Amino acid sequence: MKITAKAPANIAFIKYWGKKDEKLRLPANGSISMNLSEVFTTTTVEFDNKLKNDTVKIDGRYVKDREKLRVVNHLERIRKIAKVKKRARVESKNNFPRGTGIASSASGFAALTLAASKAAGLNLSEKELSVLARMGSGSACRSIPDGFVEWKIGNTSGSSYAHSLHPANYWSVCDVVAIVGEKKKEVSSTRGHTIANSSPFYKTRISGMREKVSGLKKALKNKDFTKFGEIVEEDAINMHAVMMTSSPPLFYWSPETIELSLEVKSWRHKGIECYFTIDAGPNMHIICKERDVLRINRKLKNVKAVRRVIINKSAIGVRVV
Ligand code: DP6
Repeated sequence: MKITAKAPANIAFIKYWGKKDEKLRLPANGSISMNLSEVFTTTTVEFDNKLKNDTVKIDGRYVKDREKLRVVNHLERIRKIAKVKKRARVESKNNFPRGTGIASSASGFAALTLAASKAAGLNLSEKELSVLARMGSGSACRSIPDGFVEWKIGNTSGSSYAHSLHPANYWSVCDVVAIVGEKKKEVSSTRGHTIANSSPFYKTRISGMREKVSGLKKALKNKDFTKFGEIVEEDAINMHAVMMTSSPPLFYWSPETIELSLEVKSWRHKGIECYFTIDAGPNMHIICKERDVLRINRKLKNVKAVRRVIINKSAIGVRVV
C-alpha cells in the first residue's frame, strides 16, 4: 500500500533540551508546544517487494549517509512491529527550509511514522504513534496530536508521549516566523542535546521545569496571554543560555536574532503585545494575538534582515491525506 501523510512542525513554548535516555529519546524535562498551520512535511511511503534497499528522497534529492540512516532506522522500528520484510520507497517534501530551527525533524518524523506504519498495515493509536515518532526525533512526538500539546517525560518508552491539552481552535494565538537565515545549522539539535549537561546552568534549568510547565498550563487554561508570553520568552532565553554555556558552546543566534529580539521588546513597550521564542537556529518565532498579526507583519517588512515571514495559527496534528 502507498500512503501519504502530512504533519505540521510545532513550536515549543517550553523547550525540550537534554535527554535522560539518549537511546530511547526520553527527555530530561516535559515540554509544551503548538502545531503550526503553515509549515509542514508531506511524506509518501510505499513498501515494495522488488526493492533491494530503502530509498529516501527529501525535497527532490536522494539522501544518503547519516540522514538516510536515521530514516532507515525508523523504518526498521516499524517493520519490526508490523513483521514486514519489504523495503520502502520514501518521498518527503517540506514547504520550508530544513535544519534552520523550524523543527523539520518534528514534522518529518511525525509524517514518516504515520505514513510508514499505515503502509505497513498497522493501525496505531495516537499514543502509539507519538511514542514511535519520539524514537525518530523527540519533538516529533508533539506533532502527532492536535493543537496545544504536552509531552510528559515518562519513565519508560511506553509512557513518554505527547497528548493534546487543547484543540487547535481553542485560542487564536499566532506564531509569526521571521526567517533571517536559511543556512543549515552546523551543530544538529541531536548533538546539542548530548552536551546540554556540560553547562553549569543545566541543573538549575531542569530543577525549575516542573513549576514552569504547570505555570504555562495554567496560563493556557486561563488564556492569560501576558503570563503565557512571559514564560515562553523566559524559557527560550533560558535554553539558549544553557546552549551558549555548554562545552563546546553552541550559538544558534545570529546578530539578526538579537536585533529582532530587541525589536519585539520595543513593539511590546509600544502596546503590541508579543513575545519571542527561538529554537536551534537563528530564526525568530514571534508569538502574538491574531488581531496583532498584520501590524507585526508590517513592522517586519521594515527590518532589513528579515527575508521571509510565515504566519501560523494553531493546527491539527498528523493526518493521512
Ligand atoms: C530546540 O527533537 O530536534 O527545537 O530528539 O535529537 O531529534 P532529537 O532533537 P529535536 O530537538 C528539538 C529541540 C528544540 C526544542 C523543542 O522543540 O522543544
